[in-house]
Formats: sequence, C-alpha cells, structure tokens
Amino acid sequence: MICAAIFGFGNIGSGVLDVIENNQHEIRKTLPEGLYVKYILDIRDFSGTPYADRVVSDIDIILNDPEIKVVCETMGGKEPAFTFSRKALEKGISVCTSNKELVEAYGPQLLKIAKENGCSYLFEASVGGGIPLIAPLNNCLRQDRILYIAGILNGTTNYILDRMESEGVDYEPVLKDAMNLGYAERNPEADIGGHDTGRKISILSSLMTGKWVRYENMYVEGISKITQRDFQYASAHGYSVRLLGVSRRDGEALSVMTAPFLLPQVHPLHAARGVFNAVLVNGNKVDNLLFSGRGAGKLPTGSAVVSDMITAATDPTSSHHINWSDEVVIPEPQDECENRFFVKVSAGSREKAEQVFNGQIDEIWSLEEIPDEFAFTTVAMTESDFAKKAAMIEMIGRIRIF
Ligand code: HSE
Repeated sequence: MICAAIFGFGNIGSGVLDVIENNQHEIRKTLPEGLYVKYILDIRDFSGTPYADRVVSDIDIILNDPEIKVVCETMGGKEPAFTFSRKALEKGISVCTSNKELVEAYGPQLLKIAKENGCSYLFEASVGGGIPLIAPLNNCLRQDRILYIAGILNGTTNYILDRMESEGVDYEPVLKDAMNLGYAERNPEADIGGHDTGRKISILSSLMTGKWVRYENMYVEGISKITQRDFQYASAHGYSVRLLGVSRRDGEALSVMTAPFLLPQVHPLHAARGVFNAVLVNGNKVDNLLFSGRGAGKLPTGSAVVSDMITAATDPTSSHHINWSDEVVIPEPQDECENRFFVKVSAGSREKAEQVFNGQIDEIWSLEEIPDEFAFTTVAMTESDFAKKAAMIEMIGRIRIF
C-alpha cells in the first residue's frame, strides 16, 4: 500500500477519500499496491464516523511516519496550509492540492522546495475543478508557445449566471443553492467578487509565461452589478453574460483580466452551463483547444486531486519540470487595454451619450420593454478613453463585450 494523508477534511477532502476508497480498483491499474488514506488531519471532532480512528490533530504524527509518501492539502486559505505543505515537502512527502489561493501565492516557492527534497508539488485541482487542464498545459503543450487563455473558471458564478439567464431570477437566492451544493468558497465573496477566477487566471497565466503573474497586479471585477435587465438586452442580441478570466500574450506584453463579459451565445465557451467551466487555450502550433467539465464540487475536484496523488506516487519527480519561476511579470496597465462595451444610460441622457461617444457607438441596443433606458454598444476603445467618456454621462451600467 502507498500510504497517504488528507490535510483538511472538508468538502474536497471528503471527496478525495471517497474517490480513493470507492475507485481503488481503477487506482490499482496504475498503482498495483493500492493507495490508502492512513491519516486525516483536522482539528474538528469526527468521533462516531467510520473514519474516526484515522483523524489526527497533530501534523507531526503524519510527518514522522515513514510510510507516508503523499498528502493532499485540501484545507484552503494560506495558513496553516502553507506551513503544513512546506513541512511535508521538506520531509520528502509529495503534496497535491486544490488550494488555488495557496498555489497563486506560493506556487514557485513550493515547487522549488519540492524539487530540493526529491518530491512533487502538484495542483491540477486548483483550476477548473475536475477538468484535466494543468497537466495538459505542463506536459502535452510544452512544445507550444501559449498565446491566449480565456475561460469560465468559477463554477459558482457560472451556476448563478446560468440560472439568472434561464429562470429569470436574481443572484442572491441562487447563491444559497450554490453554497448548499458545495460549490461556493467559505466566503462566497471570493466567487461573486471575481477573486477566485482572478487567482485561477493568475495560475494559468504563470504557467503560460513560465513567470509569476500575481493576482494582485491584475484587474478583477465580479458579478454583483449584473441584473436581469442585462440578460434581457443580452439575449435580445444573441448574447449571454459570463464571468471570464482572460490572459493574452502579444510579444513580451501580457494582458490579464477578470470581469463579466457579454458572450455570444454561439461561442464555444457558452456551452458550459451550470457549474461547468470551459477554458479556451490557444497555442502557436496547436491552435485552439477547448477544455470543459465540472469546475467545482467534491467528487470532480476530489478526482483531480487523486489523479495528482497517483502521479506523485508513481513518479516523485513529476513536478520538477514545471516551468514556473519566481520572476514577477507585471501585466500591461488596464487603462491601455482595448475593449468593446455595452452601455446603459437613462432614456433622458440619450442625446448627451450620443454626443460624448460620437463616432464610437457601434449599435443601438435599446429595447421597447425597457423604455426608461437608452442602451448601446461601442467600437473597440481603450479602457482609459472609455472611463473618461463614461464619467461625462450618467451611466447606469456597462459590461465588456467578448
Ligand atoms: N468556489 C469555486 C468555484 C470552487 O465555484 O469554482 C472550485 O474552485
């Protein structure tokens, strides 16, 4: 038996145990000796549960057990997850995680510690839940220069926006459902505010460039201002509204952002409904690739973590080739990025808006059923040009167009 431990027995940690216990037959096709969860590290009381005898609250019991070859860190947050992961790696124990906050903040450092200690730090489940995405980027696409990654990277907000679109409901009650289904973060502001997507596009951008693209250096906007009226305008013109993380390389320049976008209903990313994520990757030789699957939930995410655990158990050096240095690369200033915008003003402000955006209005999107508003789309313009003009009108709202 290859012995393992689970750090943090919440939603994902219990999903990892489920996959290991119930898919042992599949796991043994690669690891004939089998994978066994010997310890579960958690400070909560699990007495009376079938796994109570495996729960420990002292990490040293795990770190000092020479049988432990791999752990999964499904605690979430930076501390104590960072300290525990570092300690395990320093003991030569591979760490596999779903913790995007930790990967974004300490990825290069933990990869280095793993390499120095002959073990691996793997993080397939940190982006896209159950979708195999990180391994294809790090392995199958090593020969390509990745130019572009854009995706729906947060299951909770996609579930909310999809239900707002199909059921005409507002986001608060749907958020409660997403929390009950185990999709949302402990603090769902991380989902709604776009921070979770921001961290995920940061990790993908880092793997794309081989450098460190920090979340704190990118523009992030969430979905809290999206209304039913936005969906009315969008659907009348063949669009939907989706929260996207977008990262683009042009020579040495990199632009990265997270924001809600009007997405054409015929766009392949729009096929990701509910909790599904979809990620479009463009390589200079392979061209477009589309990855899709469940982006959140204990079993899909647990499945991705266990995949890494099998990889690490099979080859403890498997993360050593991951191309992610600690050299920070700062994306282009958001002000200089070009976008098209959908804009709403009050009906009475139409003349002023037409005057301010003279020559830059692409289409009028006003609807008979919303007579109190004037809506239009712009041609591509820089964010700073748009902001200057938007400040001159009494704008009700605006959404970028993908
Ligand atoms: N809260 C996250 C989501 C969980 O909804 O996508 C998976 O990272």
